[in-house]
Amino acid sequence: MTRIVLLFVLFSLNYHSHADLIADTCKKSEYPDLCNSTLRSDPRSAKADATGLARIMLEAALIKASTTFDQVKKLLSKTTEPVLKQCLIDCTELYGLIVKEIPKAIQNVGSDNNEAIHQGDSAITNADTCEGIFSDEPNKRKSPITANNIAVQHLVAIAEHILASLG
Ligand SMILES: *[C@@H]1O[C@H](CO)[C@@H](O)[C@H](O)[C@H]1NC(C)=O
Repeated sequence: MTRIVLLFVLFSLNYHSHADLIADTCKKSEYPDLCNSTLRSDPRSAKADATGLARIMLEAALIKASTTFDQVKKLLSKTTEPVLKQCLIDCTELYGLIVKEIPKAIQNVGSDNNEAIHQGDSAITNADTCEGIFSDEPNKRKSPITANNIAVQHLVAIAEHILASLG
């Protein structure tokens, strides 16, 4: 009887500490809502440790980056206006880099977290550069991909923050 109670207590503690890992991780994040919704939408998060959560976050960032890459290529194929066209050509090149950098970051999670952070930083810089191109004077344009550009940066930043906390 005592043993069963003890097992139950241990199970509850374990279950509880796990539920808290996502909450605790996201509470400390710069983007708590995006962190929470991204992790909770992946069933693997429930059993993941912090390293696993960082990996899941980077995989979500890669999916978002790939979607954005496709979006940019599609827009480019439909654009004839020269200034906008050049912006999209530049972003195509930048997203070509980003979809290679994020997988490199994923590969390094758990074995070389600093290198993962370094690759993540490159991806963030490239997404930020893509967004900035549209605001270049004298031919300022409204970026058609702002939401995705920002989402990519925030997802990678959340992952980096988790990785940094692991040391
Ligand atoms: C996290 O997301 C879940 C499900 O999407 C939601 O039920 C919960 O309220 C969220 N928690 C916080 C702290 O935002």
